[in-house]
Amino acid sequence: MAKIKKVPKHLAIIMDGNGRWATRRGLPRTFGHKEGIKAIERTIDSCLKHGIKYCTFFAFSTENWKRSKEEIEGIFDLIRTYISKEDNIFLKKHVKLSSIGVLDPFPEDLKSALIDIKEKTKDYDKLEIIFALNYGGRDDIVRAVNKLIDNGYKKVEEGDILSSLDTCSLPEPDFIVRTSGENRISNFLLFQMAYSELYFPKVLWPDFNERHFVKALMVYQKRKRRFGGLS
Ligand code: FPP
Repeated sequence: MAKIKKVPKHLAIIMDGNGRWATRRGLPRTFGHKEGIKAIERTIDSCLKHGIKYCTFFAFSTENWKRSKEEIEGIFDLIRTYISKEDNIFLKKHVKLSSIGVLDPFPEDLKSALIDIKEKTKDYDKLEIIFALNYGGRDDIVRAVNKLIDNGYKKVEEGDILSSLDTCSLPEPDFIVRTSGENRISNFLLFQMAYSELYFPKVLWPDFNERHFVKALMVYQKRKRRFGGLS
């Protein structure tokens, strides 16, 4: 296999296909999400191995509240258990965890577990993992504009919006990967993805592994990024 010379600084992932993975095995959908966490863990290891600095996972969208109460609570339970484990990957491998999205509607114990792990990992600088939780691209833009209005802006420029988005401390995503063969962005980082490279592999998220990760990096390094200019 060819050598990987160029990796995205900021990789963003839409982890799709958990439900289908479970249904095909006659299991409840939550089993797919549980297996999806193993894929998150493998991906964090791959990020460390290949020197990715930022990786954002679309874990819960503003639209996911439409799912059954059972599935929503199942996802919350999984996140809570995962980040509260004493030997979790963030503490063990010195990985910073942050989040984007509005946490207010989440259960108090989940919010406090998140605050706790964010605080404990805030000074790690090798890799930052960002969980998008109750996140929507449109909602992010609307909140950014409202912040500017509250600060007295009458007219805004692109840079004002960029620096008011939840991602203000992050570089724009270089590469967005959505698994499961669906070719949609589904309200992910809408403003931020203006020049992102997109890739839609067929693999279902729970099956995503280092081999798929390397394949994605190979796809990325072949892309010629011109940002509207000429190469
Ligand atoms: C999309 O697959 C997946 C989600 C909406 C949830 C993803 C959540 C996790 C993997 C758990 C989050 C855990 C942490 C630690 C952040 P789908 O259910 O839409 O799959 P389908 O399209 O096959 O139904």
